[in-house]
Amino acid sequence: MNKSIYILAIESSCDDTSASVICNAKVLSNVVANQEVHSKYGGVVPELASRAHQQNIVPVVQQALEQANITKEQLSAIAFTKGPGLMGSLLVGTSFAKSLALGLQIPLIDVNHMQAHILAHFIEEENSKIPEFPFICLTISGGHTQIVKVTNHFEMEILGQTIDDAVGEAFDKSAKILGLAYPGGPLIDKYAKLGNPKAYPFTKPKVGDLDFSFSGLKTGILYFIQKQQRINPNFIEENLNDICASIQYTIVEILMDKLKNAVKKTGIKRIAIAGGVSANSEIRARLQLAEKHFGWSTYIPKFEYTTDNAAMIAITGYLKFLNNNYADVSVTAKARLKVTE
Ligand code: KG4
Ligand code: ZN
Repeated sequence: MNKSIYILAIESSCDDTSASVICNAKVLSNVVANQEVHSKYGGVVPELASRAHQQNIVPVVQQALEQANITKEQLSAIAFTKGPGLMGSLLVGTSFAKSLALGLQIPLIDVNHMQAHILAHFIEEENSKIPEFPFICLTISGGHTQIVKVTNHFEMEILGQTIDDAVGEAFDKSAKILGLAYPGGPLIDKYAKLGNPKAYPFTKPKVGDLDFSFSGLKTGILYFIQKQQRINPNFIEENLNDICASIQYTIVEILMDKLKNAVKKTGIKRIAIAGGVSANSEIRARLQLAEKHFGWSTYIPKFEYTTDNAAMIAITGYLKFLNNNYADVSVTAKARLKVTE
């Protein structure tokens, strides 16, 4: 029987402080502390995020170890998010991970956050469906929107990406126009469930086959709302569900169009989604339908592995551990890091 590998992982790239313990490919704990402080500012305030990480990191790690029911002496390695993300936030997790690995004299493993969103699909759980290689992953988050061809755990190629805003930003900025709190993506999803998706047609952008653009859509939504408000000052309040449903429908149509293009171009019909926006109920439903309609095999992450979490860092750390792919203590956080780096 194989030895049990225990990895403690830390994620602090943006505004969630998270720690997770994994035993081989199985998650024992995944603790996430959300930072409420940003909601009233309509977006993440980097300075406040790093301070909150500093406060949260010790209790979050302690909780992760307790829930996993192991001691730190049992750990085989420490994994942490190296980037991409906010530098001040990344530094908190990086420094903490380095100190802990040094103190315990165990390997340190640096993890690329973008790879981790994708590799979350390799977490083993009851009823989990693990993708076979090669597959296509649509990574949709607050900072990124890309279509990635995944040939192996660590062999990835970007086939297309956004030329301006990320899809999560499109959700969040649209929500802001509607006066909703940050992050607005989950709120749009919630109101959209009660609305008519075809109530207001928004124009889809024209960009390359596998590329994305969301800034025009955001401006289109802003002008449309301003125009309607001149006619009826209560337009948003009276039509919130329909507006949200229409915005969400347009965004998901754009994502589905691009996935169809990717399948046509690569011939690969194994399609995964990853990142915070993959929590969206409409994209999840549409992908499930695509199994029936287009014969795709689709991989939809469990809800808790969609938005930022340390379990995805832990599974990536575990896969790197198996390859003896460790970091040196001189490793530094990187605000910018491509999925292929
Ligand atoms: O992956 P993530 O947690 O952080 C980044 O790495 O960016 O993604 C956060 C993004 C936010 O823009 C948030 O509004 C969006 O994911 N999001 C959603 C939903 N849940 C989270 N967008 C649409 N529908 C949702 N249900
Ligand atoms: Zn993320």
